[in-house]
Amino acid sequence: MMKTGILKSVTLCLIICGFSAIIKAQEKKASSSTGIGTVTSWDVTDPFYPKYHLAAPFGWMNDPHPVYFKGAYHLFYQFSYVRDNPYGRTGLLPGQRPMRNWGHIMSTDLVHWRHMPVVMKPETHGRANDPHIFSGCVVDNNGTGTAIYTIDNKQIYIANSKDNDLATFTKYPDNPVVNDVPTGLETVGQMRDPWVWKEGNSWYMIIGSGLAGGKGAVIPLYKSSDLIHWDYQHPFYRADSSKFNFPGDAGFCECPSFFRLGNKYVLILSDKATYLVGRYENYRFVPEYRNRLDYGKIYVPQFMMDGKGRKLMLGWIRDGRNNQSWVKAGWAGSQTLPRVLTMSPDGSLNYEPAEELKALRSDQKSFSDIRISGSEFKILDNIKGMQFEISATFEPGKAKNFGMEFLDGESTAKLVYDVATKTLQFNDISAPLDLKGGNLNLRVFIDGETIEVYANKKVCITNAIQPSTPEGFRIKLFSADGQAVVRKIDIWKMGTIWGN
Ligand code: FRU
Repeated sequence: MMKTGILKSVTLCLIICGFSAIIKAQEKKASSSTGIGTVTSWDVTDPFYPKYHLAAPFGWMNDPHPVYFKGAYHLFYQFSYVRDNPYGRTGLLPGQRPMRNWGHIMSTDLVHWRHMPVVMKPETHGRANDPHIFSGCVVDNNGTGTAIYTIDNKQIYIANSKDNDLATFTKYPDNPVVNDVPTGLETVGQMRDPWVWKEGNSWYMIIGSGLAGGKGAVIPLYKSSDLIHWDYQHPFYRADSSKFNFPGDAGFCECPSFFRLGNKYVLILSDKATYLVGRYENYRFVPEYRNRLDYGKIYVPQFMMDGKGRKLMLGWIRDGRNNQSWVKAGWAGSQTLPRVLTMSPDGSLNYEPAEELKALRSDQKSFSDIRISGSEFKILDNIKGMQFEISATFEPGKAKNFGMEFLDGESTAKLVYDVATKTLQFNDISAPLDLKGGNLNLRVFIDGETIEVYANKKVCITNAIQPSTPEGFRIKLFSADGQAVVRKIDIWKMGTIWGN
């Protein structure tokens, strides 16, 4: 009995030591390629790895922290490279640490991107008990890049970069710059994800939090003259419990962001990718209208303003796979295409992918005046693959519903507009969209398992649907109960954003 026990322990120890050695080797590989030099890849051979959506070179990506700085576009992001556990939360093997680092990807043209070394790791921040550097933002402080971010779910830290390309950051030695949740505000005792902007000579910072007793989101406002000394002001926004069931007012607000657009102001709450349009009075946000930036699998939409004055959004695409498939694939999570946000006259937002992305198009195929009657399908033959852009104008005619299907032999994804209910449905996701007697203009971006849909510039649905084979999808057009006409459809192959 005892012998078996000892044997079992030895075997277990060998397995654990073996695992630890493998993990150490992997971490070494990861840290040598992320700490110095350029991150390349970590054997990600998964055919569904995105080619023109931003993703980590390997491992886990979540929230974006984009910034336009000295003429270049930067995406800092939540990055975890524990390979056997990309999500990095549960089921860690001995030797593994569930770390959130700040990864970094940059571009000078918004089309081609390159991976940069990881800029911040928990162990370089003197907080061995907190294995994370959580979300935040980067601002341009008179030519110095300052990152403002979360430690331990409530403290705010800063780090500065003197580099033109923001390649390295040095933490401020007297961190934290905010030590705890504000007194006098009844929060759940946590706050995180600072968003900072400048007005006149002062800096303002909002931080995501929640009211005690499950009363909904609250966002405290702080003020500073130097990004170091911060004074709590008052709640910038708080959920109204009498109107509590609005999307975006969930118990805790993560990653809020705020900016002016036209003559209105926009506040973003991550939950359901909700945006509020409203007024900004006495340093408080007063909501007037709310809707969703995306009805699909987007969480944490964040923004940068570029040299052309555009408000560009990136948002974390939470893909539909589970931990096991992430481990197998070697990567998890990606970002939406850079979306340009504009204010429409009715006070809602319009979105379009940045113009620059047209540079990735090739092999255009165009068709016009395709009449689709009844439940008849038109298959666009010989068009099959995993990286496409489709631009299509549907005239509803007498059809009760119409749209596109993406077929891969086994399963199908269906994007359908329903005339009676005025909804755009993409598998199990639906979004309200009133065509107001006009056409449905779709732009659809397929990239591996990501399908990002823009409808009439008003509605976005991002879905993650993995085709059953790497051959990808074939495209069909359909209408039901009456004829619809596809006035024009253009399809392009899309190239890669990596490696220029
Ligand atoms: C949102 C979030 C943030 C946190 C970060 C950790 O997705 O939970 O609140 O700072 O992710 O990665």
